[in-house]
Amino acid sequence: MTYKIAVLPGDGTGPEMVREGIKALEAAGTRQGFKMEFYPYDLGGERYLRTGETLPESVLEEFKACDAIYLGAIGHPGVKPGILERGILLKLRAALDQYINLRPVKLYPGVYTPIKDKGPADIDFVVVRENTEGLYAGVGGFLKKDTPDEVAVQESVNTRKGVERCLRYSFEYCRRRNKDKKLTLCGKTNVLTYAFDLWERAFHQVGEADYPEIERDYVHADALCMWMVKNPEWFDVIVTDNMFGDIITDLGAMVQGGMGIAAGGNINPEGVSMFEPIGGSSPKYTGKNVINPLAAISAGAMLLETLGEEKAAAAIEEAVLRVCRDHVKSMQAGQMGHTTSEVGDLVARYI
Ligand code: IPM
Ligand code: MN
Repeated sequence: MTYKIAVLPGDGTGPEMVREGIKALEAAGTRQGFKMEFYPYDLGGERYLRTGETLPESVLEEFKACDAIYLGAIGHPGVKPGILERGILLKLRAALDQYINLRPVKLYPGVYTPIKDKGPADIDFVVVRENTEGLYAGVGGFLKKDTPDEVAVQESVNTRKGVERCLRYSFEYCRRRNKDKKLTLCGKTNVLTYAFDLWERAFHQVGEADYPEIERDYVHADALCMWMVKNPEWFDVIVTDNMFGDIITDLGAMVQGGMGIAAGGNINPEGVSMFEPIGGSSPKYTGKNVINPLAAISAGAMLLETLGEEKAAAAIEEAVLRVCRDHVKSMQAGQMGHTTSEVGDLVARYI
C-alpha cells in the first residue's frame, strides 16, 4: 500500500514542524509495512508575496487526487491578516468539504496543565467543530462603507444538512470512542434562537432515533468555557458550530498543555482530509530549531487514523506519550530541553 500525501509546510515554523512529522510518519509506515509518498507544495506567504497566488485551481485539483493533506502553518507577518487564512486554509476546508474539525484535548502524563489538581485522568475529551458553515460561510456585507452611517453584517449560516452530518459524525465518534458515551452540544440557545434552535432540534431527533445509548447533554458556550476549566472530566465528546468551536479549542489547547501539543484534523469522511498542528506560524521562533513538533506529529497520527492505519497511529501516539512523560521538560518553544529535531528523533526512535 502506498499513500499519496500532499504536504503544505506553509509559513514560519511550519516547515520545521512538518519535517519532524514526516519522520514520524515514515517510521510508522516502516513499522506497519506501508509506504507514503510526500508531494510538497509551496503555498503560503512567500509565494503570495512573489506571485500574488494563494491557492491555484490546478493545485486544488491535484489535492483531490491525494489520500490526505499534511499542513504546517499558514500566516505571514508581511501579509495582511485574512488573505492567506481565507485564500488557503478556509478555502481548502470549503472546497474539499472538510466539514468536520476534530480536535482532541488530551493531557499526557508529564505535561503541565495550568489547571490546578487536574491530571491526565481528568483531561481527555474531543471537540467536533463544524468546519464549513456558521459565521465562517462568508455571508454578509457592508452598507455605506467608510461613511459615518456604515453598516456591517456577518451572518451565521446553519443548514439542516450541514448540522445533521456534523451531529451524526459526533454521535458515531462518541460510540467508537466508547468512553462515557456522552455527547455535549455546545451552543447558545438563549440568544441565538434560530441557529441553535435548529442545532438543538436536530441533536435530539438524530440522537433519539439512531443513538439512544449515547447520553445527550447541552451547555451554553460561555458556561462551557467555565466548566472546561473547573470540571474538564465532565466531557467526553463536545460538538459545536464553527465559531464556538474555534474559540473553545484554543481554550482546550491550553488545558492540554499548550499549542505545542494541540493537533487537529479537517475531515471529509467521504473525501480528502487535512491535518495540522492548531497553533500558528510563530514567526518569532522560525528557523531556530526550538519549536515543539509534537502537535504536528500528533496531527500525523490523526492522518493515519483517518486513512485506516490505526496501529500506525497508535504507535505514534504511544511514542508521543513517552516523549512527553520521559523527555520534554515543557511544551513551550525554547523550553523543551531539546531541539525540534531531537524531539522528532526521539519520537521516531520510540515508534
Ligand atoms: C483555526 C484558526 C483558523 C480558524 C484561522 C487561521 C482562520 O484559528 O484553525 O482554528 O479560525 O479556523
Ligand atoms: Mn482557531
